[in-house]
Amino acid sequence: METVVSGIRSTGNLHLGNYFGALANFIKMQHENNCYFFIADYHSLTTHPTPADLHGNVRQVLSEYLACGIDPEAATIYLQSDVHEVAELYLLLNMIAYVGELERTTTFKEKVRLQPDNVNAGLLTYPVLMAADIIIHKASRVPVGKDQEPHLEMTRKFARRFNNMYSVEYFPEPEAYNFGKELVKIPGLDGSGKMGKSEGNGIYLTDDEKTIRKKVMAAVTDTGPVEKYQELSEPVKNLFTIMKFVSRPDTIEYFMEKYNLCQIRYGDLKKQLAEDLNIFVEPLRKRIMEISADEEYLRKVVKDGADKARESASRTVREVREIIGFRPF
Ligand code: TRP
Repeated sequence: METVVSGIRSTGNLHLGNYFGALANFIKMQHENNCYFFIADYHSLTTHPTPADLHGNVRQVLSEYLACGIDPEAATIYLQSDVHEVAELYLLLNMIAYVGELERTTTFKEKVRLQPDNVNAGLLTYPVLMAADIIIHKASRVPVGKDQEPHLEMTRKFARRFNNMYSVEYFPEPEAYNFGKELVKIPGLDGSGKMGKSEGNGIYLTDDEKTIRKKVMAAVTDTGPVEKYQELSEPVKNLFTIMKFVSRPDTIEYFMEKYNLCQIRYGDLKKQLAEDLNIFVEPLRKRIMEISADEEYLRKVVKDGADKARESASRTVREVREIIGFRPF
């Protein structure tokens, strides 16, 4: 039994990258471990500061967590902003994080490129807040997608530095974790890179059949293989990769063989992929709508989750304050 923490930023609906990269792993881990899953609404302010959207986004992601099968009886589900102790630990960790290392973080550099007019200090210290999220429960495992690896690296660094600085063995060094062997990266439909909210290349858990079909039919491919067993181009490989998550193995084999024999019609492949994606997404979409309409249930989940998360978080912060040297008069 290990302590597990993970979260997703509440910056919009969840897509298949969030599902297969992180959520699917949460769900598999929740019954055997001590799990804390939260909605990173403080983090969302680094890129999405609009007050009118904040609550609705949080509620949507919460409904999606629950619809996907995160079980509030098994795991602690909470909103990051309900646990003020996270903000305090973040402040304390900022004192042992160096500006230079934060500036060198790949995700920070990417954000500077994406939003040059809003390079706020929250973006710079994003990994510090993320470290606080994780170590506040003294977690050892963090189910996340591959893109989060640099952040986990920094979390370990801060945990280690804290332990060294105060000569304690207090925080464990948490590992990024995937239930399968490797961290998952779901590609987008635009030919390269990962599926992402900011990239606008994703299939969302709330997409209906028509939307899915339209997106998949518009996915980038190439002009087709000209010799047998030709290597797959990146856009086509990406479609096969997505298929691996939603289609039957014999379906994939069928299209792979067509490809290898230069007989493939990408239109057929896309039609099949759209169908399989819809079979996967449709029940989730319906469940999300049901759950998001159930005010009372959501309120209860959030309240119970906050109580449980604060119990664990306040214990850690109390001990950390002692270690650092804050004493009562
Ligand atoms: N950075 C993560 C993302 O963009 C969200 C996140 C914030 C997180 N704090 C975390 C994930 C702690 C795991 C653990 O998806």
